[in-house]
Amino acid sequence: MKTKIFHSRLFQGKRLAISIPCFIVMFLIFALPIDVLAIETISGQSLFIEHCSGCHINGGNIIRRGKTLKLAALKKRGLDNPEAIARVARNGIGSMSGYEEYLGKDGDKLLAEWIWAQAQNAWTQG
Ligand code: HEC
Repeated sequence: MKTKIFHSRLFQGKRLAISIPCFIVMFLIFALPIDVLAIETISGQSLFIEHCSGCHINGGNIIRRGKTLKLAALKKRGLDNPEAIARVARNGIGSMSGYEEYLGKDGDKLLAEWIWAQAQNAWTQG
């Protein structure tokens, strides 16, 4: 009788020893990439709020009404991709000056990806 209890306890201990590393691996697989994505979304958005939203609030344009960040306006001028938007963010366009020195390394890309996602969602998120 006593040995039986001993055996089953040992078995439980083994299960625990296996399930802890399993949990850690699952955490690494599932939680980490989501975390990284969340950080990217926040920094694209925070860059926009900090440097662009003054004139482009909700993807509009308070100075030149037609020159918005909405899908139709971007398409009209061939700016309907993240690369083109990143270029405008860095170098400016027309009467808008560039913001390269404020965006930091890869900030232009993060920002452009975020703007492009917003344009495709008609600026209904965030
Ligand atoms: C001080 C106001 C101001 C700020 C801040 C600003 N913009 Fe602009 N933006 C403009 C104006 C004005 C235009 C129109 C320029 C022109 O064509 O003469 C424009 C045009 C654009 C266009 C082209 C849109 C179109 O439909 O033609 C893009 C893309 C753009 N801005 C992105 C950005 C990004 C990204 C930021 C932040 C890094 C930013 N802008 C910050 C004023 C601003």
